[in-house]
Amino acid sequence: MNATVALTESKTSATTTTSARIDRIELTRPDDWHLHLRDGEYLPAVLPHTVRQFARAIVMPNLRPPVTTTVMALAYRERILAALPAGSRFEPLMTLYLTDRTTAAEIDTAVASGVVKGVKYYPAGATTNSDSGVTHVDRARPALEAMQRLGLPLLVHGEVTDTSVDLFDRERAFIDRVLAPLVRDMPGLRVVMEHITTRDAVSFVESCGPEVAATLTPHHLLMNRNAIFVGGIRPHYYCLPVLKREVHRQALMDAAASGNPKFFLGTDSAPHARHTKETDCGCAGCFNAHAALELYAEAFDRAGALDRFEAFASFHGPDYYRLPRNTGKVVLVRESWDAPVEYPYGADTLVPLRAGEPLQWRQLPEA
Ligand code: DOR
Ligand code: ZN
Repeated sequence: MNATVALTESKTSATTTTSARIDRIELTRPDDWHLHLRDGEYLPAVLPHTVRQFARAIVMPNLRPPVTTTVMALAYRERILAALPAGSRFEPLMTLYLTDRTTAAEIDTAVASGVVKGVKYYPAGATTNSDSGVTHVDRARPALEAMQRLGLPLLVHGEVTDTSVDLFDRERAFIDRVLAPLVRDMPGLRVVMEHITTRDAVSFVESCGPEVAATLTPHHLLMNRNAIFVGGIRPHYYCLPVLKREVHRQALMDAAASGNPKFFLGTDSAPHARHTKETDCGCAGCFNAHAALELYAEAFDRAGALDRFEAFASFHGPDYYRLPRNTGKVVLVRESWDAPVEYPYGADTLVPLRAGEPLQWRQLPEA
């Protein structure tokens, strides 16, 4: 058992067998390596949820308009800091939104700023606010060359937008058509394949050198695609890349629990107002920041891998991003509570993952 994780065990069997059950987990304070905080009236609605659990987060740049320059990233960072709950400490790690026109000079500026920690590659049209994304990877070459030279990670939404490819195969097609050739041509480029959803992505990341890593969301560790259709269509379980078959969920969970430092926590918490999900053409994204650590704990617990949770949540991410590990602690206890049915979201409301349903772990408030 990992000596740095304090695990309290209770004996659950009265008679012959003694099965040890872990009821308390103490972790080095984790970071969220993939997060959507939005902007304007929505930002102060979601930020406290993340601040409660995480010390830092890689903040996605798919705003309207997208965060395409360092100047915009610095301004967005100031808005995030201004929205922090009084007395809280949290470090937003900023990203730029890669376009066909991103220059090498912009990458130089980004790195020199010290606050931009990655550049997000959305294939144009792949997901929410991705219209200004990259139309062909070759168009982004000057920026990618500069990133390779400077060691700035490329954070990839790994799905092709080719509508002739089945929705459930778009991650694999992206690996074959775009990512594998890119990694071959630019072996020094640091790449995080974000929110991976398939065993193909797990195998690909495992097969690459240490420059290539991946984030895993709590929803892709806990659920397979059946969740979208239980008793009717469930818009709050729709995200991109979409949930996949059980065999893929198992491969993701195995990767998360493997101890391999290439795999780390990134919630992809992606809030959308209730009425934009519960409609005839609903937005992609699951909001999980209200209970991200609790959901991950449940996934690791189910897999019998709680002793691997801390490395995944608190060590692999900072090590990859070449940042110091955090020093504070968070404590989770095994305790059932129902997720709220909704949260305020500016003038709207937001439906969290597991709305109105029980969660099995609870983070204790800071002592
Ligand atoms: O489900 C998703 N929601 N996937 C993404 O890639 C974007 C995100 C969002 O911004 O809502
Ligand atoms: Zn995302």
